[in-house]
Amino acid sequence: MPNAYISGLGMYVPPKVVCNDDLRAWYDTSDEWIYTRSGIKERRWVEEPASTADLGYQAAQEALRRAGKTPSDIDLIIFATLSPDLYFPGSGVLLQHKLGLETTPALDIRQQCSGFVYGLSIASQFIQTGMYKCILLVGAEIQSTWIDYNPEGRTVGVLFGDGAGAALIEATEDSSRGILSSHLYSQGAYAMELCIAEPSSATRSHKLPGSYGMRPYMNGKEVFRHAVQRMGEAIETALSAQGWRPQDVNLFILHQANIRIIQAVADFFGLPMERFYNNIHKYGNTTAASIPICLYEAEMEGYLKAGDKVILTAFGSGFTWGSVAMIW
Ligand code: ACO
Repeated sequence: MPNAYISGLGMYVPPKVVCNDDLRAWYDTSDEWIYTRSGIKERRWVEEPASTADLGYQAAQEALRRAGKTPSDIDLIIFATLSPDLYFPGSGVLLQHKLGLETTPALDIRQQCSGFVYGLSIASQFIQTGMYKCILLVGAEIQSTWIDYNPEGRTVGVLFGDGAGAALIEATEDSSRGILSSHLYSQGAYAMELCIAEPSSATRSHKLPGSYGMRPYMNGKEVFRHAVQRMGEAIETALSAQGWRPQDVNLFILHQANIRIIQAVADFFGLPMERFYNNIHKYGNTTAASIPICLYEAEMEGYLKAGDKVILTAFGSGFTWGSVAMIW
């Protein structure tokens, strides 16, 4: 059975840097509050005109170039986002068209912060069955357009940024590298703890009490508690599937939601933060893009080397979570 491995990574963030103090134009907030609560110093926001598929396209171009491939080599596109260009169809088909492809299948997935981990797992299954040999997985978000700029939006509004990451995933007969295992979970009982409820297809009688509207709602403390617990469990599952001890893993890459969540997971395993690559200070929470952006920068900065044992894990709205174990 062929193994799936990442043959090229790409990322794109818009040039406009928005630092914590810039947010004081809308919110009663401070650099000190944001940095100590989340680890975020700045994030990128798009300037018009821009769409999520545009950002994904930029990242995809770089992933293709680094893998030495062209769009015509792609057998399947998987597009992970919570901020699609349109209500329907998904951004995957828009990216397919931008890449100049005619009929290549495009699959959109709605797993929010866990989108890239889910996407890797899906890609890996298609490659292991032999159905596809080369899959483009993109995680891209424009979140600056849904942020609530009213004063009460400050708790959520300061956390999110725009950006895109992409990975080309290919088949290899070399069983000593690539994706070794993946474990996926979700728990819809918590769907409303982190959501944007409208626009909605629900009938009026089925709508939620109160006015969620086209604005984000987050129960921050509940999300924090579950994120630490579930990402810890997902790492333990990946470790036991591989027979690895925590200290055997060269690099953990966690979804970049909050540096304190990452610190709590590192503490749980008794490992130093150096094993947990992070760049949340530069980009904030880029949701489906956060893990591929981390992978890209970790590789560029020399933290990821061939043969390294790597565990990725993410947790987010849904709730959804999961982990992937791989040899780089
Ligand atoms: N600036 C200044 N003060 C603020 C801000 C802000 N941006 N936002 C809230 N506050 C105030 C609150 O009003 C409150 O004031 P009060 O004590 O006078 O009532 C005070 O700060 C504390 O607010 P809390 O909500 O209790 O702050 P908490 O310590 O829980 O931190 C945070 C909030 C950072 C959102 C935290 O709950 C968290 O990180 N949760 C995880 C959420 C997360 O990471 N979500 C990302 C999406 S999901 C994912 O990616 C996993």
